[in-house]
Parts: sequence; structure tokens; C-alpha cells
Amino acid sequence: MYVCSCFGVTEKQVKDHADAGACTPRQIASASKAGTDCGSCVRRIQAILGRGNCPRRELLDQGMPALVSESDTVAELGEAA
Ligand code: FES
Repeated sequence: MYVCSCFGVTEKQVKDHADAGACTPRQIASASKAGTDCGSCVRRIQAILGRGNCPRRELLDQGMPALVSESDTVAELGEAA
């Protein structure tokens, strides 16, 4: 079923992006463009994200960065050493 009819983005695609680390409608938009035209799908995207489809949401709630690249982690470790 389409969540974003402007760009033909399905609920499964939104969930897949959430599984890949997107935790906010903005991050879903960056990954798929969903929500960047008429905006009528943003509430639906928020609802999907709010249903526990974001495995990294707990990290965000704790103030931790949800998306950390491997190079960022290596750089941080290098600075700490
Ligand atoms: S339905 Fe998603 S931007 Fe229009």
C-alpha cells in the first residue's frame, strides 16, 4: 500500500528505510523523497515510525546519535587514545 502517492513510496519501503536507520520523517525523505512534495503523507510516515519500526529510536531517546558511520567511530576512538 502506498504511503506517499506523490513519489510512489510504499509502507514496506518506509519500514525498510527505518530498518536501515532512518528514524524521522526527514530521514525517510532523504532516503526516498517521500513527504517532500505535497506533504500529506508525513503524518502517515510519523505513524509508521512511531509503531516501533525504528530499531535505533531507543538510542535517539537516550540522546545518542542514531546514524554513526564507521569512520566517525574510528575518528572518535583515535581522538580518545
Ligand atoms: S503524498 Fe507524499 S509528498 Fe505527497
